Amino acid sequence: MSDNRLIWLNGNIVPVNEATINVLSPTSQFGANVFEGIRCYWDEEEQQLYSFKLEEHYKRLKNSMKMFRMEDKYTIDELKKGLIDIVLANNYREDIAVRQTVFIDGFGSWMSKGPISMFIAPIAKSRSDIEKKTGMKCCISSWERISDRNLSPKVKVGANYINSRMAQMEALENGYDSAILLNNQGKISEGPGSCLFIVRDGKLITPPVTASILESITRDTIIELAKNEMEIEVIEREIDRTELYICDEVFLCGSAMEIGAVSNVDGIVVSNGEIGSITKKIHETYMKTVTGKLGNYRKWLTPIYV
Ligand SMILES: Cc1ncc(COP(=O)(O)O)c(C=O)c1O
Repeated sequence: MSDNRLIWLNGNIVPVNEATINVLSPTSQFGANVFEGIRCYWDEEEQQLYSFKLEEHYKRLKNSMKMFRMEDKYTIDELKKGLIDIVLANNYREDIAVRQTVFIDGFGSWMSKGPISMFIAPIAKSRSDIEKKTGMKCCISSWERISDRNLSPKVKVGANYINSRMAQMEALENGYDSAILLNNQGKISEGPGSCLFIVRDGKLITPPVTASILESITRDTIIELAKNEMEIEVIEREIDRTELYICDEVFLCGSAMEIGAVSNVDGIVVSNGEIGSITKKIHETYMKTVTGKLGNYRKWLTPIYV
């Protein structure tokens, strides 16, 4: 399916091989693009595909465009309609991930504001099953997370992922599964493409949005679910590197990863090395939420087939 996919490009629906861009465009030359990674989950019983937190993704996309000084070209309804149209055109009846990217097209330079183009690319991606997973082995990266004073992590711009790339490549080359980055204050920030939580004495702790992190939609979802559905206290505060060595549980989270347990940091086993009970419970509650099994949160779902 993936090779024959259809892609939405500037209002046209085209085969993936025909969805081409100008090699000289600022997006191609300088990573001048902002994007969202959005999940949609298939409900076999209802024969329906539900996208998760579309409004929140489009709000963040528009914020990225504003911070990146792009013309505010698309309304939320247009952004949403493009996604629905391309998913329908591909007739997906399975879990998918959608990349929606607004980019600087044309023949300009790294400082061009336009012309603005957009593509929307869905691909099959099944949901995770924590029972089949083992925890990841992570290192604290020797690369520092970008900060709001150089490349803001709040802007979901393609160029920011060079920082993630350096950290992830180093981790893999050194035999780890992934990396956790420190910010310019030497405190824990996030993973290369995910936010981080730890558990200490039954409480969930996560770095604040000012700790050089992306304002993650999954992080917000987990905070709300933990407080309202699971009666777990959530604390947003700075986290020291060594807390990862002595805490009870560590996990990373994001739209793509969902919940990913971390069982080892810098070669030090987290607790007994098994996936912890709170991580499992959060995974279960999160998956119920994104698949519409928790009534209170169906407001976060948008049906695609109407
Ligand atoms: C650097 C970074 N942090 C965190 C996240 C998680 O964000 P979200 O939960 O909105 O997917 C992502 C996901 O793309 C990311 O790239």
